[in-house]
Amino acid sequence: MDVQTEHELIEELLALKASKSTFLDPDVRRNPVDRYTSPDRFALERERIFKRLPTTVAHVSEISSPGDFVRREVHGVPLLITRNKAGEVNAFVNVCRHRGTRLVDDEAGCRHRFSCPYHAWTYASSGELIGAPHFDAGFPEVDRASLSLKRVACSVRFGFVWVMLSDEATDSFDRYFKGIADDLEALGLGDAVVVGQVTQKRRANWKILVEGGIEAYHFRIAHKSTIGPHFEDNLSSYRMFGPHMRSILPRTSMAKLSPETRSDWRLRDHANVLYTLFPTTQLLVQQDHVAWIRQEPVSPGESILKLVLLAPQGAAEDTAHWARNLEITRTTLDEDFDIGESIQSGLMSGANDDMLFGRFEGALGAFNDTVDRYAA
Ligand code: FES
Ligand SMILES: [Fe+2]
Repeated sequence: MDVQTEHELIEELLALKASKSTFLDPDVRRNPVDRYTSPDRFALERERIFKRLPTTVAHVSEISSPGDFVRREVHGVPLLITRNKAGEVNAFVNVCRHRGTRLVDDEAGCRHRFSCPYHAWTYASSGELIGAPHFDAGFPEVDRASLSLKRVACSVRFGFVWVMLSDEATDSFDRYFKGIADDLEALGLGDAVVVGQVTQKRRANWKILVEGGIEAYHFRIAHKSTIGPHFEDNLSSYRMFGPHMRSILPRTSMAKLSPETRSDWRLRDHANVLYTLFPTTQLLVQQDHVAWIRQEPVSPGESILKLVLLAPQGAAEDTAHWARNLEITRTTLDEDFDIGESIQSGLMSGANDDMLFGRFEGALGAFNDTVDRYAA
């Protein structure tokens, strides 16, 4: 984000606070409860949203050298992400082409050959089948070259490895991120490193977990013992960039900024900046690091959440600082996700027909409009 935009966003929020107002959408919105509970709806979202749109699977620092690999499970598909001898990043389905055994069990490591635990068919880090015992006798007329690992489309951008599972991707990667790409490049996450991470399974629909981060209406109540007192009450703004959202959640320190020091204003010192990169990647920009949050939708009522802290390489050695930071972020998100589970069970009870979004919760309506547009 350029400095001028940062200053305009700060001024917009300061003006709202001065007039004791909030960032209001035109209308109250209702979102039907079955959007969060219906297996049919979830199946539709899986086919039309999760499989067709880019999602983050690794930070580049996790596979920085030739031979590095990580294993992932993404929207029901087992993946192997490798960096080959030429330094290129590849994404493959982690399934042996012989009789379907999971090829790699290790979560991460460094090697250029992957040998299947069943009959030792062996693949290179660039996917080719390079060894198979007794192949010529057992598989005459089978073209070895057709037995490379199944490739999945992947891109390395903004410091992350992204995959698109379906061949029917709805858009090119560049067009999909047009509008928000400059902001993401400016974060400089390609030079960051992982300084902490935690994964947890939650009994809540993935959209509930996203929605919990994009409004400030709940801050002073749900986070009263943690971050609530440091943030303005029910004040936030958002802007859409195609399907993606940039939310600004101001800290109380923003109101103390003086116009005389305007040239020194830095948005991330006085607000949480949250990028919701549709559908399942969020980047929470904080003063000295970025929290990468990824939802892995499992079923209508279950999601796996991964929280990864990314910090500048030069600061990575302060392990006590990052352990503290991880604990604070995790505790705060736990408050959100505990409530997310409570909401999910409330919706399942049938008590309400709709989710009700107030005018200052407009970001939730905008997010759900995006979901509906892609699911249609
Ligand atoms: S299933 Fe992998 S070698 Fe047979
Ligand atoms: Fe929250």
